Amino acid sequence: MSEIKNVKACVFDAYGTLFDIHAPTAAIANELGDKAQSLSDMWRGKQLQYTWLRSLMGKYTDFWQVTGDGLDYALAAHDIDNADIRNRLMDLYMTLDAYPDAMSTLQQLKDANLATGILSNGSPKMLAAAVEASGLKPHLDQVLSVQEVGIFKPAPQVYQMAVDRFGLERNEICFVSANAWDASGAADFGFQVAHLNRFNQPPEGLPGKPKAIMKSLSELPPVVR
Ligand code: LAC
Repeated sequence: MSEIKNVKACVFDAYGTLFDIHAPTAAIANELGDKAQSLSDMWRGKQLQYTWLRSLMGKYTDFWQVTGDGLDYALAAHDIDNADIRNRLMDLYMTLDAYPDAMSTLQQLKDANLATGILSNGSPKMLAAAVEASGLKPHLDQVLSVQEVGIFKPAPQVYQMAVDRFGLERNEICFVSANAWDASGAADFGFQVAHLNRFNQPPEGLPGKPKAIMKSLSELPPVVR
């Protein structure tokens, strides 16, 4: 594996990388019982499938809608017909917790004079709420939503937004994602990629290989400084 070097900015995926996507079901796990983890996994899986399918269909809609549609499918598949649970899970998704390693990593990158940002499928409203609620906002130079280009990851137009907004070459950007498929898409685009393997995913059989694989965001600052 080659090294990450000479980067000027670190750009992060949001959901699953900085923000804990399993926090909503965990918060009401006592009501969901033994369906909690399976519901959360299916919710995430369907949410992502709908982004890819809508991109192929040319039917972009914002990530909030896609997230709700994914949840509706997962609730139905788990025989949960409860509007109150649905509403609370969606409210919790709006203000997700950051993972414990996120804040100190962003602080260290800023201290090392690197630019920082988010590049996410999330809608501008969702991302604004999450960076505010998590306290990460002061440590982020840019918060970029795919809404601007009207297609989801891993479309190259999405990764191009970071190039344009940071005013950097592709290989001057370190992109960090806990989604192996997003890591592949970003590497294929030309970013130097760190796959944050929080979820013990095997490598994807896709074009684009990450330069580094990490277990925690705290491994990033020494690599990019
Ligand atoms: C995002 C999803 C892919 O934040 O996690 O873009």
